[in-house]
Amino acid sequence: METTLYGKIANQIIGQIRAGIFKPGEKLPSVRSLSRKRSVSISTILTAYGILEDQGLVEVRPKSGYYVRRVPVHEHRPPAISQRTSVPRKVATPQRVMEVMRDSSSPQFISFAAALPGTDFPVIHQLKRIFARVIRSAPFLGIGYDSPKGSEPLRRQVARRALDAGILCSPEEIITTAGCQSAIGLCLRALTSAGDIIAVETPCYYGLLQQIEAYGLKAIEIPSDAERGMSIDALRLAFEQWPIKVVLSIPSYSNPLGALMPSQHKQQLVSLIEQYDVPMIEDDIYGELGYQDRRPPAVKSFDRHGRVLLCSSTSKTLEPQLGVGWVIPGRYQEQIEYQKFINSVSISRLPQLAVAEMLDHGGYDRHLRLARESYRQRRDRLIDLVGQYFPGETRISRPQGGFVAWIQLPRGASALQLYLDAREEGILISPGELFSANSGKYQSSIRLTYSDAWTASRIEAVKTLGELVARQL
Ligand SMILES: Cc1ncc(COP(=O)(O)O)c(C=O)c1O
Repeated sequence: METTLYGKIANQIIGQIRAGIFKPGEKLPSVRSLSRKRSVSISTILTAYGILEDQGLVEVRPKSGYYVRRVPVHEHRPPAISQRTSVPRKVATPQRVMEVMRDSSSPQFISFAAALPGTDFPVIHQLKRIFARVIRSAPFLGIGYDSPKGSEPLRRQVARRALDAGILCSPEEIITTAGCQSAIGLCLRALTSAGDIIAVETPCYYGLLQQIEAYGLKAIEIPSDAERGMSIDALRLAFEQWPIKVVLSIPSYSNPLGALMPSQHKQQLVSLIEQYDVPMIEDDIYGELGYQDRRPPAVKSFDRHGRVLLCSSTSKTLEPQLGVGWVIPGRYQEQIEYQKFINSVSISRLPQLAVAEMLDHGGYDRHLRLARESYRQRRDRLIDLVGQYFPGETRISRPQGGFVAWIQLPRGASALQLYLDAREEGILISPGELFSANSGKYQSSIRLTYSDAWTASRIEAVKTLGELVARQL
């Protein structure tokens, strides 16, 4: 039993933190006020707070005071992902993907499933105003098809913003598409034939796996780290063993891990694809949603020979309803333009012009600043809530951008059972099996989207999820 005065005070505060009287992120009483209240010396309180700090329960913020650390119950540990690479095989995505997607569009659920941007930003009103203006002033009806490359004002804006990712290209080198998924589809169709092997990170956004499946391709799943993304060493080994036709990856704030591939790895990735003379499709849809000041360089920024095809869209930064995306296809320009033409001839001009206007002087940067800061805070809150309500062995990724996190449940818990139980309670999550090329993997992991504001009902839903997991153990 603790006999020193500072030890007793430290234990009392620990009890209060565990009981939730002081919440994660909350400021503890100042040293001076606590010393007055307890009638003890300032150095006794400082020693007590020092014990809490040593135990990782509180942190000092200079000139501000002592705060309860964000994950006080169990230290934050990223999910562990098996580092074994499997052999290439046909992809069989679970039927459940479509079930989850169907449910996600129903307002009857509290959804953490679909990766949609937050709905509480003023940008939606700005977009409405821009649409109204463009309808009045720009020619779009009665002008026939848009050009096969897409609307020039949009391509000009995309080229301008690509500079931030370290990519120097002209509007002529960009092709607009009906979203990022569509851009990736065009690339896969242009670059592969049925039976080809695609190297893809694992776990991976199911939309990419579904495309690989639909085109009759084989996937070799390259292990990913929750912080640094696709393993370059594992990719190198895969190249040595298999005739890989294309590499497909989400290097900046991947879905579902939220991992950011370090710039050095991006550079090594380019060296590898050059060595093996293989194209790479870079899904950069979350690239502008980082929480740091500077946007990370794209893999394409290291590409001197045009082998990287960068695909993106405004579905995550602005709004999926816009249906506006693009590809910067490097040396594969003609093939992609041809694929776009045979698939859709062209895409609608109106949303392209509206997005161009938004990027040009519609307050896009202001919106991004707000969205990125909000997502960072919402991520912290999710980590707090999972720390508070999920069983102690739970692990969660700590994305540096985007708005999806990967959670590894304690040993013995089934993600599928949690999905089914949660659905009964009106809560939607994405079970881990959706993110693998075959459903045997990630049976105790889930993905949660944290883009929406933390309302009381969403907080309660996380609590319910934690209770449902605990019930399984
Ligand atoms: C990594 C990734 N790529 C592509 C898409 C689809 O993008 P779009 O809506 O622009 O087709 C998504 C949507 O969730 C995604 O997460």
